[in-house]
Amino acid sequence: MRECRCSLRDRIFCEVRRSNAMPIARKVRYNRRMRKRLIAGNWKMNINSSETAELIGQIIEKSGDISAVDVVVAPPFTSLVSAKAAIGSSGIGLSSQNIHWEEKGAFTGEISAGMLKDIGCGWTIIGHSERRQYFGETDETVNKRTKMALISSIKPIVCIGETLEERDTGKTNSLLKSQLGGAFDNISEADFADTVIAYEPVWAIGTGRTATPEQTQEAHAFIRNWLKTIYSEPLAEACRILYGGSMKPANAKELLALPDVDGGLIGGASLKADDFSAIICASL
Ligand code: 13P
Repeated sequence: MRECRCSLRDRIFCEVRRSNAMPIARKVRYNRRMRKRLIAGNWKMNINSSETAELIGQIIEKSGDISAVDVVVAPPFTSLVSAKAAIGSSGIGLSSQNIHWEEKGAFTGEISAGMLKDIGCGWTIIGHSERRQYFGETDETVNKRTKMALISSIKPIVCIGETLEERDTGKTNSLLKSQLGGAFDNISEADFADTVIAYEPVWAIGTGRTATPEQTQEAHAFIRNWLKTIYSEPLAEACRILYGGSMKPANAKELLALPDVDGGLIGGASLKADDFSAIICASL
């Protein structure tokens, strides 16, 4: 038998889980095998192209072997090319922070799927709450961007999440349902395949206030159950759902251990190589 390399605290936790809740423990192991963890850094409007290259170099150095997890970084548009060069053959995925739904044309300030593919960018973040809050992003535009990403073989990370007022007034589930319905309207099961969903409660983004494990698991399970009502059970079980909102080394392990949490979309902590690498390690 292989020796367990978990810490004593983790081993006690495992034992308690084993004796009290075997079905949950089994479910966690089953889902973990099925869904490869994804740790994505959203660098928002931070760091220039040389800082980007430097940060990626540090992440590669500090993270070691990352083959067991998908790691993705999303720098600003101006840093995508230097990021691609710095990534080299490390296996880190490159993401944009947006994508337009038209192939080209008079859309000042936007970026097309063709432009992203041209520089080897294989992922895109869509519908981040900051886009919804400050730049008029709607469920309809999220849907159009998602469709364009999917037909272009760029993997979308579609963000949803409630505001504090929506949570406090008991509207979290209805909001998630309407954002999901809007984002994936008219997207077939076959097209959906590579889509990742990020649950990011707006009140937890950049605030230092993280959703509790119970709130997080409840929302993630709600999203997965919604997927089951629209698509098939295998698709819902295969879809990766990330948590985003003040994830950091101190809380990553607990959040990433939840049955329906398959990774993280990390803002502030992903700008520090030590912290981002620690979160990557916590996902293994
Ligand atoms: P923070 O990790 O800084 O809260 O940001 C989360 C986020 O918005 C990732 O997209």
